[in-house]
Amino acid sequence: MRKVINAALVAGILGMVALIVAQEVMVSRTPQGQAKALESEPNIGINTNNRQAVCKMLNTLLSDEYLLYVKTQNYHWNVTGLMFNDLHLFFGEQYKQLASIVDMVAERVRMLGGTAHGTMQEFVENARIKEAAGMVPPYKEMLKNLLADQESIIRSIRVDIDATSDEFEDMGTNNFLCELITKHEKMAWMLRAYIS
Ligand SMILES: [Fe+2]
Repeated sequence: MRKVINAALVAGILGMVALIVAQEVMVSRTPQGQAKALESEPNIGINTNNRQAVCKMLNTLLSDEYLLYVKTQNYHWNVTGLMFNDLHLFFGEQYKQLASIVDMVAERVRMLGGTAHGTMQEFVENARIKEAAGMVPPYKEMLKNLLADQESIIRSIRVDIDATSDEFEDMGTNNFLCELITKHEKMAWMLRAYIS
């Protein structure tokens, strides 16, 4: 009886070891030392250099989108004044749209075989949008800051749209960015309307 139990114990331990070894085999290391699951490279008619360049471009955009999402949510929480109710709701709608955009941009990176940035450190290091920690501006400044950031993102996307068609020959991302720019243009219009 004891031998049977020992044999079962040994078999169990061997099974666990095999599982750990299999997991190690399934994981490779990037040059930066980060673990990366092995997947097949997308064979979608875009050469590797172009795909990687588009992923880098999209990760920079993702960082901008994430910072603007956090900034808009910050203003949703901290806005004060006569316009409180309107702006609390308005900023709430905008940060939810930005959360959805963040998700779409990150997933576009994955569709192209890249790894989406997913840490605050990466977002802050790569974003062109700037934060102003410790500052709670009056509501008119909030509107102006968000409009400036939205317009900055719109200008960046416009440059990226040209690059995806002229340089990287990636019309899927080109189409994605053409749709994305109109979402930002609508958000910018609404901010502009409040300011005027
Ligand atoms: Fe809320």
